[in-house]
Amino acid sequence: MAAIVIDGKAIAAKLLEDVRLRVAELKKTGVLPCLAVILVGEDPGSVSYVKAKQKALTEAGMDGWDLTLHETAPEAELHTLIARLNADERVHGILVQLPLPAHINEDRIIRAIDPHKDVDCFHPLSMGKLLMGQPGFLPCTPHGVLVLLKEMKIPVSGSQVVIVGRSNIVGKPLAMLLARKEYNATVTICHTGTKDLASYTRMADILIAAAGSPGLITGDMIKPGAAVIDVGVNAIIGTHLHSHLVGDVLFDEAQETAGWITPVPGGVGPMTIAMLMHNVLHAAEGK
Ligand code: GUN
Repeated sequence: MAAIVIDGKAIAAKLLEDVRLRVAELKKTGVLPCLAVILVGEDPGSVSYVKAKQKALTEAGMDGWDLTLHETAPEAELHTLIARLNADERVHGILVQLPLPAHINEDRIIRAIDPHKDVDCFHPLSMGKLLMGQPGFLPCTPHGVLVLLKEMKIPVSGSQVVIVGRSNIVGKPLAMLLARKEYNATVTICHTGTKDLASYTRMADILIAAAGSPGLITGDMIKPGAAVIDVGVNAIIGTHLHSHLVGDVLFDEAQETAGWITPVPGGVGPMTIAMLMHNVLHAAEGK
């Protein structure tokens, strides 16, 4: 039987509607939630991500500051800008679009953001709180995956979760969240150094692919009935230089075996933006 295809776009739209209503309430108290989005350079992928974030902010009734620096801007200029935004009470969230040009030290930049405005949850203090189970922002993509599992009523407690990928943005924080008592999953982290990857993925009740490797997960690597969450976003250049997005999972094969599956695009991607909007709202509410 073919898998249930998880409609991330519809679930994200529902969440965004909730955010929009809460923003309207907050505005009545004189608070306009505001996210400052910093982009350095003109990388086409980053430009399109930033546009999508600005569009979502507008639709949610929030303020979005579009701050673009030249590709060659010195790191000091970025520090000056972040210091100004940290001190500005009108700004509730600060997001620096990654990756940054090679001459800028990403770790130093992330550390410069006031943790109270760290809606990406990339600051070491935010990550440390997450690791220790203390209240704070949740990183957008991992949070989006948790919401998808909840909305689809996919059993998580006591399940075997295998995450392929150990990035700071997805793999590591998602593993920490799912292992919390409230989710109660048994989590295995696999990566490019894992020998016989399929022997792990075949054990997974929930398989999360976040390796950034197109077609890494084939149908025969999936346990029948498993939930397959594809976090991969890989641009494939086709004919006439047109590119299209594919995930880490070979969708057509996987959906024959899986119980649930997220498509790319339209699965996890829209959830990431919805959770970002949720974090900006929370920052503005002072929660
Ligand atoms: N680049 C790729 N994903 C992200 C993200 O979630 N946040 C930021 N700031 N940059 C990214």
